[in-house]
Amino acid sequence: MKRDQPEKEFNFDREVDRLGIRIKDANQLKVRDDVFDEITLLALYKLVHKKWLSAIGGSISTGKEANVFLADREGTDVAIKIYRIRTANFNTMNEYILGDRRFTGMRKSRKDLIFAWAKKEFSNLKRAHEAGLSVPEPYVWDRNILIMEFMGAEGRPYPQMRNVDLEDAAVTYEEIISFMIDLYKNAGLIHADLSEFNILFGERPFFIDMGQSVTTDHPRAFQFLKRDIANINHFFSSRCEVKDERELFTRITGLVFPDLDKEQQGKKV
Ligand SMILES: Nc1ncnc2c1ncn2[C@@H]1O[C@H](COP(=O)(O)OP(=O)(O)O)[C@@H](O)[C@H]1O
Ligand SMILES: [Mg+2]
Repeated sequence: MKRDQPEKEFNFDREVDRLGIRIKDANQLKVRDDVFDEITLLALYKLVHKKWLSAIGGSISTGKEANVFLADREGTDVAIKIYRIRTANFNTMNEYILGDRRFTGMRKSRKDLIFAWAKKEFSNLKRAHEAGLSVPEPYVWDRNILIMEFMGAEGRPYPQMRNVDLEDAAVTYEEIISFMIDLYKNAGLIHADLSEFNILFGERPFFIDMGQSVTTDHPRAFQFLKRDIANINHFFSSRCEVKDERELFTRITGLVFPDLDKEQQGKKV
């Protein structure tokens, strides 16, 4: 007679024990349910095993798609970003992946898309970091998890620029424009979500959150760049003199400002 197979049950506490590391907020039910599901614990297990992680400390941020935690790697602070498999905002993610030639032909289940997103943020940060830009160095990714350099001091993340009283706004404005130029010219990327929320400030600006960044040949690249420029100008317009958006577009791309309603491509100047 055929017996019922006992269903292999997922036991959170046992799995966390098996990890052999401390997860500070894991006993908070919301964090446990939303973030540390079975797949995520499995990925963490691998990362712990490969010595990329020694402990997961306090929560730094709960965003629309991901949670960020301070973590420890053998005595060094690192940041760990975990894209939530259950409750990530799936629809907005799709729009950026479609049209990116690096991700054609991939299966588009929800889980796969979220894994691709973590991988995409890793490769965007890597490209930017290798081009010498002021972004966290990405260390490793696995499934929905990205481990990167911690941008902060003494366990405290640098504040988002929106919460900083800038000493010399004009200088910071220029640094941000230089970032956009170098990102475009040296890394071939457009940030695509550049704003005072995704710029951390510790004496100088640090640029984060590049999951949605696209290569300059993405069909909507210029549209995203125009929006980045508009966001930055909006933030700085009450703080210092800002440059004309068309002029900035040309400085960054070397192209005339495209009228995107009529044509998608800029022309060479
Ligand atoms: N490498 C990092 N070092 C320090 N803090 C970080 C780092 N990455 C993210 N954070 C913190 O977490 C917040 C959210 O990270 P972000 O990458 O912008 O995710 P989201 O997609 O949720 O906006 C940031 O505003 C910042 O405060
Ligand atoms: Mg962000």
